[in-house]
Amino acid sequence: MLQGDTGPRDSFSSKFGVIAAAAGSAIGLGNIWRFPYVAGQNGGGAFLIIYLLFIAAIGIPVMMSEFVIGRSAQLNPVGAFKKIAPGKKWYLIGLLGVVSAFIILAFYTVVAGWTLEYLVQSVKWIIFSGRIGFSEMDNVALKEFFSNHYRGFIDGRWRPILWFAVMMGFTGYIVISGVKNGIEKYAKILMPLLFLLLVILVIRSVTLEGAGEGLVFLFRPDFSLLRETPVKIIIEALGQAFFSLSIGMGTLITYGSYIQKKENLANTAISVAAADTFIAVVAGMAIFPAVFAFGIDPGEGPELVYITLPVIFQRMAGGLIWAFLFFLLLCFAAITSTISVLEVIVAYFSEQLSMSRRNAAILAMISVGFLGVLCAFSEEIFGIFNASPDLLLPLGGFFIVVFIGWFLPKDKSKRELSSDGSHRTRYYNLFLFLVKFVAPLAIAFLFVLGVYSRLITLFPGAN
Ligand code: PHE
Repeated sequence: MLQGDTGPRDSFSSKFGVIAAAAGSAIGLGNIWRFPYVAGQNGGGAFLIIYLLFIAAIGIPVMMSEFVIGRSAQLNPVGAFKKIAPGKKWYLIGLLGVVSAFIILAFYTVVAGWTLEYLVQSVKWIIFSGRIGFSEMDNVALKEFFSNHYRGFIDGRWRPILWFAVMMGFTGYIVISGVKNGIEKYAKILMPLLFLLLVILVIRSVTLEGAGEGLVFLFRPDFSLLRETPVKIIIEALGQAFFSLSIGMGTLITYGSYIQKKENLANTAISVAAADTFIAVVAGMAIFPAVFAFGIDPGEGPELVYITLPVIFQRMAGGLIWAFLFFLLLCFAAITSTISVLEVIVAYFSEQLSMSRRNAAILAMISVGFLGVLCAFSEEIFGIFNASPDLLLPLGGFFIVVFIGWFLPKDKSKRELSSDGSHRTRYYNLFLFLVKFVAPLAIAFLFVLGVYSRLITLFPGAN
């Protein structure tokens, strides 16, 4: 039964299905592509500590709030606020989420598409390794080779657009298939596979000679960088926490609306946050030891994964087969996230604008397609889109916690969290304290600081 048609609302069928889908949304390029380079640029271990703090004190409460809103209303983010707070302006938070979904889906699917290019290329590189002459190249020549490939690929424009379209197609296909038979089904297959691939890569990476230094970088906090640029590091940690957990734009309101009434929302949120954080750290453990073992700068930025790692893989026994496995992992991680972003738009179109699920998905894909092509054509636009979640998601998150902390009557949130009294909610007062005071104040403070520091970088003369 297609949603948007009349009939029972689609839902996740099991506890594992819920966690696989929500963790599938959370775990993505944000963990494997973004986290390592953002941590690398912001001081490794010191960044990690602040990040963990934000996950616990802000991330989990926001996630629980989204689940509460979604499951109690059984609707998309816009419809949910309209139903819970009729006649009020809160639904604008839902709209902000839908706008964020468009922006994120556009640049995110572009990067997700790169993984397909690299999957195909790594097969080619494996087959033609002798002809390309990899074994005669030193590290510098290898880096030049992969960096030329990356630049040629990105600047060539049409291949990134092609892969973007393919990735969008897979995403649309899964979303059109529905919640149970699409999103949940694929998450249940892809997430365990992703985990398996990551474990293999970590074992390979930490057993390289000289790997220890990478682990030290990731785990030993060095506070000197934090003293130099505290604002930048703290804001990026908050942005990364929101982005990585998929919170602040209604993804988890939408998924929450598909969670059955009996599931324990607090447990679900904690499991998802724990899995997401664990995978980010483990991805760091796969990447940094290899980066250090080959004497590469960990603060290289977004190309860390697409230029540096192929160099490293080529140098390891087994060669670019590792690259193939890695990009397969990245591809799986990405697709369980793109479906969750598309689902926000599709749920909105189908429930608020009464479209069929299929038409909603097609309309969403075409419109996101325009934005994606812009991202593939212009590195400036890509850069703006890629940086925007750092502000957009905390902004959405702020209003979500304020809504739960200050607007929704306490008994309603408690009833939802306890599934009408069948789960214990001893944490409730702590939760309320976090959503009423800690999370909104911290987010508001950092948001203002973030906007201010961005304005200063844009108009340095004004300072
Ligand atoms: N959490 C995803 C990741 O880490 C990205 C994402 C952000 C997905 C926002 C949905 C909503 O890759």
